[in-house]
Amino acid sequence: MISLNTGICRMLGIEYPIIQAGMAGGPTTAELVAEVSGAGGLGTLGAAYLTPEKLREDISEIRKRTNKPFAVNLFAPGPEDDFSRIDEVKQALKPIYEELAIEEQNGEYRSPDHGEELFRICLELNVPVISTAFVSLAPDDMAKPKAQGVNIIAKETAVSEALEARAAGADAIVAQGSEAGGHRGSFSFDRHPMGAQVGLMALLPQVADAVDVPVIAAGGISDGRGLVAALALGAQAVQVGTRFVAARESGAHTAYKQAIFKSDEESTVVTKSFSGRPARGIKNRFIEQFDSSGTKPLPFPSQNTVTKEIRGAAAKTGNPEFMSLWAGQATRGMTQEEGAAEIVSSMMEQARACMR
Ligand SMILES: Cc1cc2nc3c(=O)[nH]c(=O)nc-3n(C[C@H](O)[C@H](O)[C@H](O)COP(=O)(O)O)c2cc1C
Repeated sequence: MISLNTGICRMLGIEYPIIQAGMAGGPTTAELVAEVSGAGGLGTLGAAYLTPEKLREDISEIRKRTNKPFAVNLFAPGPEDDFSRIDEVKQALKPIYEELAIEEQNGEYRSPDHGEELFRICLELNVPVISTAFVSLAPDDMAKPKAQGVNIIAKETAVSEALEARAAGADAIVAQGSEAGGHRGSFSFDRHPMGAQVGLMALLPQVADAVDVPVIAAGGISDGRGLVAALALGAQAVQVGTRFVAARESGAHTAYKQAIFKSDEESTVVTKSFSGRPARGIKNRFIEQFDSSGTKPLPFPSQNTVTKEIRGAAAKTGNPEFMSLWAGQATRGMTQEEGAAEIVSSMMEQARACMR
C-alpha cells in the first residue's frame, strides 16, 4: 500500500513528500523557500552562485518567515577554471556581442568560488538539510555535517553514481531522470560526455533497489499523478524544479516564466553551450547560434563565466532568446503563475484523488 506519509517525511520533519529543488541563479528566493516549507513540503535555497553575505541574508529571511525545516543546495567542489580556448569561444560569441551591443571584457575572466565558505556558513547556521549537485561530497566533507545532525542529500543520474554517493555517506539520494530541467547531476562524464540520459521511469526502481537510503525522484514531475507514480516506483519523495520556477514567489525573470508558459514537451534540449556542463533548457537563439558555430564550449565553470555578460544583457532587456531558460520536459500544464503553497496543496490533493 502506497502512503503519502513516507519515511523521508519523518526523517526530514516535513508533512508532505514534496521537495522544491534548489535552483541556483535566481529562482529560489527566500520567500519561495519559506512558502514551500510553510505549506508542508521542503523548500530549498539554490545557493551555489550566492555570495557568502547573500547566503546569510537569505537563511535569516527564511527563518523569519517560517520555523519549518528547509534545505540549502550547493555544488560539490568542482574543476578549476580553464580559459585556454577563450579566444575561440569569444569569436563564436562575437555576433551575439554585436547584436546585444555588449562591450567585450578585456581583462582576465575568473569564476567566483565561494563553495567552501558557503558550506561553512551552512554548518555555522545549522541549516537542517544540505543537498548537493555534481560529484558526491567526499566522506570527510560529509562527516562534519552528519555529526551535527544535518541530513545530506546527493543528486545522481545512474546507479553507479548513487552507490558512490551512498558509500560516501549520503542520507538520501535524488535520482534525476533525463527529463529534468537544469544541469544534469551526472558525474560520470568519462563515460557520458552529455551526462547519463536515463529516463526516470527506468532509473528510479533501479536506484531504489540498489541503495539502502530513501530515494527522491526528480525530472518531469509536475503534478500529483507524477508524485504517486514516483512513490509506486520506489521513491519516498519527489523533487520538483520547473513548476516552482514559474511560481509567483520565484525570482525568475518574467520573460523566462513566459517562455515556460509557451513551451511544451518538445521545447527543450540538453546543451553545454551556456555553462560547459550538460543542462536541459528551452531551445532559443543562443543555443542554436553557439551550437551551429561548431565551437566546443569551455569546461564548467569557465563557459558559465564567459556567457554571464550575455545572459545579463538579455535579462536587462527581457530578451529570452539569450537567457538560459532551464526547464524540464513536463511544462505543457504550466500556463500561468501560481503561489508556491498552492502548488504543494494542489499536488497533494491530486495525489490523494489518484490514490483513491
Ligand atoms: C532553473 C533550474 C535551476 C536548477 N539548478 C539546480 C541547482 O542549482 N542545483 C541542483 O542540485 N539542481 C538544480 N536543478 C535541477 C533540479 O534539482 C531538479 O533535478 C530538476 O529541476 C527536476 O526536474 P523538473 O525541472 O522537470 O522538475 C535546476 C533546475 C532548474 C529548472
